[in-house]
Amino acid sequence: MSHPSPVINSRKADFPIDPQFTERWSPRAYTGEPVSETEVMSMLEAARWAPSSNNAQPWRFALVLRNDPQWDALFATLNPNNQIWAGKAGAIVAIASSQLAAKVGSTELAPNGMHAFDTGAAWAYMAMQAHLSGFALHGIGGFNKEAGAQVLGLPADHTLHMLATVGKRGDAATLPDALREREAPNARKPLSALVKRGSF
Ligand SMILES: Cc1cc2nc3c(=O)[nH]c(=O)nc-3n(C[C@H](O)[C@H](O)[C@H](O)COP(=O)(O)O)c2cc1C
Repeated sequence: MSHPSPVINSRKADFPIDPQFTERWSPRAYTGEPVSETEVMSMLEAARWAPSSNNAQPWRFALVLRNDPQWDALFATLNPNNQIWAGKAGAIVAIASSQLAAKVGSTELAPNGMHAFDTGAAWAYMAMQAHLSGFALHGIGGFNKEAGAQVLGLPADHTLHMLATVGKRGDAATLPDALREREAPNARKPLSALVKRGSF
């Protein structure tokens, strides 16, 4: 079992914010400790309370713990550069969205143009709750989505977006050289490069 190395966090906010936003980051070194269903459910409970267009709540999650029968097949869908570090996570949550939602005041389903946008909000809530609960969470978009969809039985009208690995943060020394050097909170573009008053 590896112990976490100290976090050297050089992130600085341009404007005052709650420290949780700069303190959350995506480590790659996990200890290999198991993560329980209940622990992940708290993260997904936070995701549940995300806002969504027409309150459609298009997000859908498939939870796979390391000893679950789907683990090996799901892990095999990861790109090799992600397999290097993700194997010591205790859980993988596949994040998808339903492309269809009931029309307002009706049970009739129609395409929901906001399904992906809203599911991004839910994933961010999940990531923040993981951080606040003392877990590391690292998202993976680098995987074979068709294969992942098959492993997890994704319905035809759903889109699979990302796999969120969850675990206890481990020691950076357990990582290969190239990843060890990157094992720290990264920077952001200045807010001035992202925001203009009155136009884009
Ligand atoms: C949709 C999405 C896909 C990502 N895919 C990968 C991935 O395949 N491999 C990886 O190492 N990190 C992946 N990341 C992690 C990002 O690189 C990371 O969130 C970003 O550099 C910001 O760093 P932070 O989360 O530590 O603040 C992904 C993140 C998101 C949101």
